Amino acid sequence: MRTKLVAGNWKMHGSLATNAGLLQAVRDGTTGKAEVAVCVPYPYLAQARAVLEGSAVAWGAQDVSEHAQGAFTGEVSGAMLVDFGCRFVLVGHSERRSFYGDTDALVAAKFAAAQTAGLIPVLCVGESLAEREAGVTGEVVTRQIDAVLANSGAGAFARAVVAYEPVWAIGTGRTASPQQAQEVHALIRARFARDSADVATGLRVLYGGSVKAGNAAELFGQPDIDGGLIGGASLVAADFLAICAAA
Ligand code: PGA
Repeated sequence: MRTKLVAGNWKMHGSLATNAGLLQAVRDGTTGKAEVAVCVPYPYLAQARAVLEGSAVAWGAQDVSEHAQGAFTGEVSGAMLVDFGCRFVLVGHSERRSFYGDTDALVAAKFAAAQTAGLIPVLCVGESLAEREAGVTGEVVTRQIDAVLANSGAGAFARAVVAYEPVWAIGTGRTASPQQAQEVHALIRARFARDSADVATGLRVLYGGSVKAGNAAELFGQPDIDGGLIGGASLVAADFLAICAAA
């Protein structure tokens, strides 16, 4: 049995003042049935640790450098995230891929750097609307995963998470239907099964893209959906906790 995981992705939102109540409410409201995490902006990692340490809620970051250290102005290494108690880090979020030029190769390097530092990477994959309409969803998602498999191997996914996030569903209020999502999740698991049945069986594949309290239970009820990566709804404690409860 795969333990469900619900991870919040705060994106570039928050302040010390508003985070305090949100973090405390998530801490207080987490029951411990599903695994829960929040991926916060870098400057708030210390605050997340201060509030969440010793609780059932893990924390993490939204990106990581592919380098271990050096002259890379503005970058943050995996070891630095570990210093602040991070358990998870997102790699390859579609906003990184589309706005900041994170290529499949760069995402693969970030995934490897995260694991080397001792973090659990959450590899985000997903197709654009044009790609879905062109009928190439499977090819796109497989290409994104294959880049990481070629670099790190299937065994690395025993300590990793995959998040399927159709780009057209992120922040749009337009969720993939449970059937649409399940179809891609099954395809993702089958891709891993080609390399390792054990890894495929144990791998958690999260769904992300306009998950709300009202649609979470049906999505999480699909056989290959092992939780969610939650953007907008992770900024409101009651909404996020309701999604966690649905898992
Ligand atoms: P959303 O974002 O829940 O606001 O659609 C999901 C994500 O980008 O991780």
